[in-house]
Amino acid sequence: MNPHDPHPRFQPEEAARLRKNLVLYSCALTVIETQLSNLNRYYSALSDSNPIELIKTRVKSVDSIAQKLSLRGLPLTVESTVENLSDIAGARVICSYSENVNEIASLIKAESDHEVIAEKDYITSPKPSGYRSYHLVVRVTPGGLFGDQSCPVEIQIRTAAMDFWATLEHKVRYKYSGEIPDHLSQELQACAEKIHELDERMYLIHELVELINQ
Ligand code: GTP
Ligand code: MG
Repeated sequence: MNPHDPHPRFQPEEAARLRKNLVLYSCALTVIETQLSNLNRYYSALSDSNPIELIKTRVKSVDSIAQKLSLRGLPLTVESTVENLSDIAGARVICSYSENVNEIASLIKAESDHEVIAEKDYITSPKPSGYRSYHLVVRVTPGGLFGDQSCPVEIQIRTAAMDFWATLEHKVRYKYSGEIPDHLSQELQACAEKIHELDERMYLIHELVELINQ
């Protein structure tokens, strides 16, 4: 396998085997999607305000799984995929304020039907790139005909402002195949700080209005 191959592909038989394995991941993702959508409904109907702006989900495509394995110098097999990737099934919750992020994270962690296997708070400790988000990886057992099979689902929780930044940075990173030129990465870091400051200032306005309303 050539680690610099710009378009790495699974062998056809391996790709077919992987597609079958991905069904478990998409069913596990549906379980998480339902939990998140129930939170959303509860807030909308039974609470004064809804901190959830948007919920997005996706199962990584076979090609982008191949790309990620190849970038990490790992073999393009189903076994290597299952062993090494925890973000094949992914959900993203976009909240209004970073205070809401912690609230949603706590609610997800409190659900008893899945196990939290990893937790990273890139809001308290942002990445050197400037990236901020709260990441949870939970192990889900969809049940039914899958028996006791389980798989990880990655849940990213962030504010709309953090999402705006991450989407642009991801686009830039993709454009430069991961090697963002210094001047651009400095500009992105500066934007991340500005966005963080905005998040905090807007939250203070929000709190002030809440106080006045009381
Ligand atoms: P990946 O191999 O990128 O998945 O990283 P990881 O498995 O070490 O996990 P981590 O929690 O650091 O990142 C998981 C995911 O968070 C990534 O797949 C991205 O979606 C997102 N992410 C992490 N760092 C950055 C960043 O610097 N910029 C952007 N735009 N997204 C990031
Ligand atoms: Mg990951």
